[in-house]
Amino acid sequence: MSEERLFTFRNRWFTVSVLGTIAIAVVSALIGFVWLPSVQRDAQFAGIWNAICSAAGVPREWYAGGTAVEPKEKLTSVEMTPQLLDKVSANSIGRGATLALRCTMCHGERGMSEANSPNLAGQYASVIYKQLIDFQKGARSSAVMSPMVTNLSDQDMRDLAAYYSNLPRPPAQRKVSDALAPPIVAHGAPMRNIAPCAVCHGGIDTKAGSPWLDGLPAAYTKSQLIAFANGMRTNDIDGVMRNVARNMTPEEIDAAAMYYARELNAGR
Ligand code: HEC
Ligand code: HEC
Repeated sequence: MSEERLFTFRNRWFTVSVLGTIAIAVVSALIGFVWLPSVQRDAQFAGIWNAICSAAGVPREWYAGGTAVEPKEKLTSVEMTPQLLDKVSANSIGRGATLALRCTMCHGERGMSEANSPNLAGQYASVIYKQLIDFQKGARSSAVMSPMVTNLSDQDMRDLAAYYSNLPRPPAQRKVSDALAPPIVAHGAPMRNIAPCAVCHGGIDTKAGSPWLDGLPAAYTKSQLIAFANGMRTNDIDGVMRNVARNMTPEEIDAAAMYYARELNAGR
């Protein structure tokens, strides 16, 4: 048997194995470069060409018209630092008080909501400021709040944050003791990767950017947890709250919402 006779297309075995190899290569390329990327829902995979470039490792700026593609979810543009608005001036508080007249109908005369809007009295200034920016830029959406912030300047938002953060929090009617807190608040759920709420939201520790939750209406707290869980609210930095909420059971969501609300209701 000579070499020539083996590697020739007249040899049926040779033809079949060459064609087979080519077919396998084409099919795997289609799967790897086209099909798998095309079912990815991330923005950089939008369109077959982008998908191919992305799968091949081409830097994002090189395709999609030279600009990085906007992520589909609206993310926050605010950077949270412990120093953000940690000192507010009396002037700023005064200006905030005037601006706040248009907010009282829902957030209450002194920042304590009678309806199911969140309380703002004593909320951290940085939290209020961040949420207002997120509403304005569309990172957080609310049919009610979004139109309220369209015409606010950056300084307006800082002043409103200063004013509300300076209002007294409702007096605690009972001491928050770990014994009263439901397990999800005090201990989290380590097997499901949930840190105790109290580690960020106060009780054990307070992390910059975590809102003060005590006294929030239960319906509001519950709606926010559900919104984080199903991805309707995506303005939490690095998905901290989405990762917590999507692993919570409905019972745990109810228990946490009731617990944080009771702080206020006990005194009424
Ligand atoms: C018509 C009622 C209404 C008015 C007026 C209103 N708000 Fe709100 N606000 C709401 C509701 C409802 C929410 C909760 C939105 C949600 O469910 O995401 C909210 C949320 C907020 C939040 C987020 C609080 C948190 O804990 O995350 C801030 C901050 C806020 N409002 C500030 C203001 C300011 C400042 C004004 C005035 C310029 C104002 N609101 C006017 C109803 C209102
Ligand atoms: C790792 C820190 C961390 C842990 C743990 C955590 N949170 Fe949060 N939470 C945050 C941050 C940060 C925000 C603010 C998100 C944003 O910027 O909009 C937030 C926001 C919230 C809000 C929205 C408040 C508002 O006023 O809009 C609720 C409700 C909430 N958390 C409840 C919980 C509950 C209940 C738990 C425990 C099961 C929990 N969180 C655990 C960091 C945490």
